[in-house]
Amino acid sequence: MIDAESDSVRDSVKDYYGKVLQSRDDLQNWACVSRSKTSLKHIDDAMALVHPDVEARYYGCGWVIPDVLENMKILDLGSGSGRDCFILSKLAGETGHVIGLDMTDEQLDMAKKYIEYHTTTFGYKKPNVNFVKGFIEKITDAGLSEDFFDIVISNCVLNMTPDKRAVFQETSKVLKVGGELYFSDVFCDRVLDPEVRKHAVMWGEGFAGAFNWDTLVALSEETGFSRPRLTNAKPVIIEKDEFKKILGDAKFCAATYRLFKMPTKTMEPTNVVYNGRITGKPKALVFDHRHTFKTQDIVSVDGELATILSSSRFCDAFDIQPPATRPCCTGGCPDTRSNDPFEFLVKREAEGNLPEPACCGKKSD
Ligand SMILES: C[S@@+](CC[C@H](N)C(=O)[O-])C[C@H]1O[C@@H](n2cnc3c(N)ncnc32)[C@H](O)[C@@H]1O
Repeated sequence: MIDAESDSVRDSVKDYYGKVLQSRDDLQNWACVSRSKTSLKHIDDAMALVHPDVEARYYGCGWVIPDVLENMKILDLGSGSGRDCFILSKLAGETGHVIGLDMTDEQLDMAKKYIEYHTTTFGYKKPNVNFVKGFIEKITDAGLSEDFFDIVISNCVLNMTPDKRAVFQETSKVLKVGGELYFSDVFCDRVLDPEVRKHAVMWGEGFAGAFNWDTLVALSEETGFSRPRLTNAKPVIIEKDEFKKILGDAKFCAATYRLFKMPTKTMEPTNVVYNGRITGKPKALVFDHRHTFKTQDIVSVDGELATILSSSRFCDAFDIQPPATRPCCTGGCPDTRSNDPFEFLVKREAEGNLPEPACCGKKSD
């Protein structure tokens, strides 16, 4: 990590999201990133209550609203105008708590302006959401407590820092053991040419600092997280000729991952049974792209997943049974590359099931 690079990237990203962009329409490569409907009524209802001014400034690239949110303490890294925070505020309920962390005053001002509106709309006596100024690389310096949060989410922000290790270290600090980092971000299939990292707009649009799968795996391991589990990935189409010239043949996608802060001791492979009690998921719980737990089915899982399910907020939704006799596990052995978003997309394409691109902007140069 070079500090000077971090400082200059932060300054240009701050300028981009504070001064250059006024709404999603001003993004150059991401014109349609919003998700308008899910298959779950309680989530669609929460989304429909978000104020249109907040929604218009949503700059995310994926879906970062996980299951089991009631009463949870949740932190959003790079919360922007607060769209995901307000959805989470509704789903966590009045006794939950949501904090948005961002470095850009204009984004924070917009989010704060709508706290009262959402508190009233949700029928809460007092707000369960607030917004704090700070850097995602220095979460504890912003006054946030260690071992405090159940969930940390982030939507299209971690690519914007050259110091991803610091973000993972700090996130691990503020999460409880068994807590989850659930984030969506831009991934690249290669290490980009250093010239791209000098380009302010490439940072602002999420390409210069895109993740690589190998970097994500290494960072997770170094900072005490489980292996990253892919929930979804979508191709990203580079629309502008000017961008194509800078980025060359590099391929991009937007992918969503879940990672858990692991206890020091990992369990043996185990059988687990989902009890169907998670809100909106009476029949089955899709945990990641390899694991769907049907209610009351006995499923063999590897030791890491057994540890996650028993140490996290999912523990009340699972009966953890004696160790499995089978050596492997549902969804394949844990060391496969099937969580690499590009492998996932190649497989989906071969099955004739390639997801829609994450970005449907048709802006001309
Ligand atoms: C692409 S926008 C996403 C905003 C929000 N997550 C959403 O989905 O609308 C990126 C946001 O991250 C913030 N950000 C970028 N780098 C940051 C950093 N190093 N520390 C704190 N905030 C950062 C920017 O200010 C901006 O609000």
